[in-house]
Amino acid sequence: MMTMPLFLIFLLHVATPISADLRPGFYQKTCPEAESIVRDVMKKALIREPRSVASVMRFQFHDCFVNGCDASMLLDDTPTMLGEKLALSNINSLRSYEVIDEVKEALEEACPGVVSCADIIIMAARDAVALTGGPDWEVKLGRLDSLTANQEDSNNIMPSPRSNASYLIDLFQNYSLTTKDLVALSGSHSIGQGRCFSIMFRLYNQSGSGKPDPAIEPIYREKLDKLCPLDVDQNVTGDLDATPVLFDNQYFKDLVAGRGFLNSDQTLYTFPQTRGFVVLYSKNQSLFFKDFVRGMLKMGDLQSGRPGEVRKNCRVVNGRPSHLLLESPSIMEGDVRGSYNKDDGVIVD
Ligand code: HEM
Ligand SMILES: *[C@@H]1O[C@H](CO)[C@@H](O)[C@H](O)[C@H]1NC(C)=O
Ligand SMILES: *[C@@H]1O[C@H](CO)[C@@H](O)[C@H](O)[C@H]1NC(C)=O
Ligand SMILES: *[C@@H]1O[C@H](CO)[C@@H](O)[C@H](O)[C@H]1NC(C)=O
Ligand SMILES: *[C@@H]1O[C@H](CO)[C@@H](O)[C@H](O)[C@H]1NC(C)=O
Ligand SMILES: *[C@@H]1O[C@H](CO)[C@@H](O)[C@H](O)[C@H]1NC(C)=O
Repeated sequence: MMTMPLFLIFLLHVATPISADLRPGFYQKTCPEAESIVRDVMKKALIREPRSVASVMRFQFHDCFVNGCDASMLLDDTPTMLGEKLALSNINSLRSYEVIDEVKEALEEACPGVVSCADIIIMAARDAVALTGGPDWEVKLGRLDSLTANQEDSNNIMPSPRSNASYLIDLFQNYSLTTKDLVALSGSHSIGQGRCFSIMFRLYNQSGSGKPDPAIEPIYREKLDKLCPLDVDQNVTGDLDATPVLFDNQYFKDLVAGRGFLNSDQTLYTFPQTRGFVVLYSKNQSLFFKDFVRGMLKMGDLQSGRPGEVRKNCRVVNGRPSHLLLESPSIMEGDVRGSYNKDDGVIVD
């Protein structure tokens, strides 16, 4: 392995998605206040509506799993592009987009055109955790915002609340996230809420049995039945754990006690492959925090290698003449889904 044939170097280059180099302190020179600006807006959001920071934290998952952390999920639909906001897992569910808008406005004021929406999601997710009692950590920055979004990819990728642990293990593995990462990252459900819509099947017809999920502890089930009777408005929400505005390991204690809100939560305790991690985290909060941070950093590293930009408004791509777009370098040779400049509406507009 002393010398690598030239042609091999060429091949490797073509096959590897070109990704921005992510590093801590990316905006130190270009926007030194960036991180404190994000944190300030998140603090205000927390005071205004405690749940909103959980809602924003969730964005990191729904962004990074669908073609990398590129803020594609923040794009509004256009006449020629179905965005991800109305994808199966997002419609009537993702919320608090306005908090990101507020962060972006503040950043554009301080340093116009510098901080990407993709990085805002990563910083805001970290801040949500830190501000609710969880760990604080240094994030890597330098992401670019996508030029398009893909509703179909989101539909195909994002897991249903009915998922079981073995499906989720496989899904996460596809993103180089281990079983341990899966359990630790699911601990994000330590904050926030879910809809009755997401649990009706397990309350009344688990796996088509006509019966409730037997893993639900009876007193907790009574509580959920009251919250979500069969004829309920399924937009009614319940807490994902017993301390929904505190980022702690209560979520895992709840799972051990059969009080997980979602099927995808409780299954982490039911299945032997994940159960050990649930028990460990239920007993050792600092271990949970340590593994959670690692998982968030790994998830934050996911990138598509597609071309990008720093959006001025997180909801829309920057307007630019179509001839420039057509000339943008194609760096997608290694990406089978790299058909963005054929299918999407950016060029047509
Ligand atoms: C492991 C697979 C996962 C599944 C199946 C899942 C599914 C869900 C579902 C169904 C909801 C409630 C949505 C609703 O009823 O409208 C929810 C909420 C939430 N999820 Fe996940 N999730 C998963 C992993 C994650 C990860 C990795 C994160 C973040 C790192 C995350 C963060 C959140 C947060 C913070 C909420 C509460 C949001 C709010 O209150 O608005 N989830 N999740
Ligand atoms: C888990 O879910 C998958 C996908 O829905 C299903 O095919 C599989 O049978 C389930 N596994 C178990 C053990 O229930
Ligand atoms: C993981 O990736 C493989 C190979 O692309 C695919 O066949 C499988 O369906 C994926 N699993 C999940 C759960 O997404
Ligand atoms: C429960 O689910 C099964 C299979 O999905 C379905 O055939 C049945 O009609 C459902 N029962 C009720 C009461 O909804
Ligand atoms: C929840 O509310 C939205 C908009 O208000 C509505 O379109 C939707 O049908 C409701 N969803 C459920 C499951 O009731
Ligand atoms: C809990 O986890 C931390 C962090 O890994 C570790 O240092 C500590 O020894 C653990 N505590 C116990 C009681 O196992």
